[in-house]
Amino acid sequence: ARAKGMRFGSCTAWAPPGADRGSFANPDYAALLEADCGILVPENEFKWQALRPDAEHFDTSRFDAMLAYAKAKGMAMRGHTLLWQKPQYYPKWLNDYDFGAQPRARAEAVLTGHIETLCRRFGDSIVSFDVVNEAVDEKTGALRDSSLSRAIGGTAPLIDLAFHTARAAAPRAQLVYNDYMSWEPENEAHRAGVLRLLEGLRKRGVPVDALGVQSHIGIKNEGTVAQVVAQQTGPWREFLDAVTAMGYALVITEMDVNDQALPTDTAIRDARVADYARAYLELMFGYPKLRDVLVWGMCDKYSWLNGFTPRADGTHQRCAPYDAQFRAKPLHAAIAACFRGA
Ligand code: G3I
Repeated sequence: ARAKGMRFGSCTAWAPPGADRGSFANPDYAALLEADCGILVPENEFKWQALRPDAEHFDTSRFDAMLAYAKAKGMAMRGHTLLWQKPQYYPKWLNDYDFGAQPRARAEAVLTGHIETLCRRFGDSIVSFDVVNEAVDEKTGALRDSSLSRAIGGTAPLIDLAFHTARAAAPRAQLVYNDYMSWEPENEAHRAGVLRLLEGLRKRGVPVDALGVQSHIGIKNEGTVAQVVAQQTGPWREFLDAVTAMGYALVITEMDVNDQALPTDTAIRDARVADYARAYLELMFGYPKLRDVLVWGMCDKYSWLNGFTPRADGTHQRCAPYDAQFRAKPLHAAIAACFRGA
């Protein structure tokens, strides 16, 4: 990646020393990060739920420890996320907030206070922020509302304010809109909604540099990989062409390959996952403004997918570059091959 002016990276978590987690504090996991990564992103430690115990306070201690680790190892850092526009991921106090007699002014102050504090503190250490995450409803393509958007009078003005505030407070950082619309056919309404949002942001002159393409992709069990990929390529290219034509860069922010639908045989699963990822990345690497490629975890054992879509056979998802014994899998080789060819 470095030879191509690109970066490969992963999320990592805070955990107490010795914990069996996907943490930089777990020596087995840290070894994977140090072998492969030029950039990290906190899996949870930079979210409102983690940083804001209440409306008055910030607790950045877990993120501070992660940032110190990254700096010591010469790795860059992403910030995820300044506003996750899904009420279930707002802290409870924010969902229940009483915005008083002047709700708009109060809500703007809550949002800008959060973003300014973090961007001023970390704007020179974080190279890229997911300023807004997942604001588009995956089924309807409409913008999601929340306590903040209702008080401000709409989700679009809330999003605009988040980006303007981040740009002013962290002028050197890349600002990203991040979402999980993906290339599988069931994401059509989601893609259309994200496109509408990105068009509106450009028209209104909102400072957004890139689309974060989360890339939680999933391989099905029907057809060959080539057949599946052939069906998905056309609409996905149209989407990416429209996004990049508006001047947005692309970042792969959270890639993994969900293999819940595949049979138990490890060799078959690993080959299919690797082939699917390679086809996806080859397409993505065709866009020259893609510079950063991050996976959502280096190791199968610690992936969120084991909880989100557990496999019926009880085995770990084989979704990440390394298996539960920390051995590199065909997915790792596929990613490396894409960087070599980029
Ligand atoms: O840390 C607490 C622990 O103290 C408590 O006992 C336990 C009980 O539920 O919860 C723990 O917190 C969990 C946290 O992960 C840390 O493990 C939360 O419940 C759980 O909701 C949280 O899930 C995270 C999820 O985002 C929601 O924040 C996943 O780890 C994380 O992988 C996932 O990441 C998201 C991205 O931010 C956005 N894109 C999609 C991606 C996958 O869902």
